[in-house]
Amino acid sequence: MTPQQLRERLEFYQDLGIKTLYRPKVQTQHVEQASTPAAAVQTPQPELPPLAPPNETLLQILEEIGDCKRCRLHEGRNKLVFGVGNEQARLVFVGEGPGADEDEQGFPFVGRAGQLLTQMIEGTAKKEGIPLARPDVYICNVVKCRPPENRTPLPDEMEICGQFLFRQLQTIRPKAICALGSTAAKALLGTKDGVMRLRGKWHKWRDIPVMVTYHPSYLLRPYNQNAKREAWEDLKRVLHFVYD
Ligand code: URA
Repeated sequence: MTPQQLRERLEFYQDLGIKTLYRPKVQTQHVEQASTPAAAVQTPQPELPPLAPPNETLLQILEEIGDCKRCRLHEGRNKLVFGVGNEQARLVFVGEGPGADEDEQGFPFVGRAGQLLTQMIEGTAKKEGIPLARPDVYICNVVKCRPPENRTPLPDEMEICGQFLFRQLQTIRPKAICALGSTAAKALLGTKDGVMRLRGKWHKWRDIPVMVTYHPSYLLRPYNQNAKREAWEDLKRVLHFVYD
């Protein structure tokens, strides 16, 4: 990458509100040789993240995630996508998991769906007279590594990575959360109901109000114009609740 390309990339990140770039510590793994056949055939159990210590920071959570190998998603990972935005945000958006662009760059919602999300946040805020830009909110996903072929994260992947999402939310303690799509809704509300059923109403994650709306990728499909209008209505409600 040339210095000019690097400068452009950094300016692009700055526009997205990214002020800090992290280089995760790579842990070297000590591989034990099995001394007995019984030990050799034991399947490793997924390591669940420990409970959150009080008053932890997002940086501490990120450091604890480290060079994560807690689930199979790490196998195809290029970059782990932790989250981006204002660490004291009053509003947090939760998506499903990184796509190809996010996996390449290490930041959530930087591809086409991300551009639509930015337009939705900033366009709705402007229309409603709310001074708000994308860097003022916090954006993250249920899983931090890209699922192969962008498939939906599996229950065990959501369970493991969801612990870190919950810790991020507990640290930020926003006034409201906006769940983008059914995977985020499922992770936060523990429901199997789809977005159509859940959207437009307030729910709760712990004591924090949650609005469920359509995932921007769904809204990018040309035949979902009605859903687009509904998503704008949902967002309007969220923005007025949080910023009025
Ligand atoms: N879709 C998501 O759910 N998250 C991203 O970060 C990008 C696309």
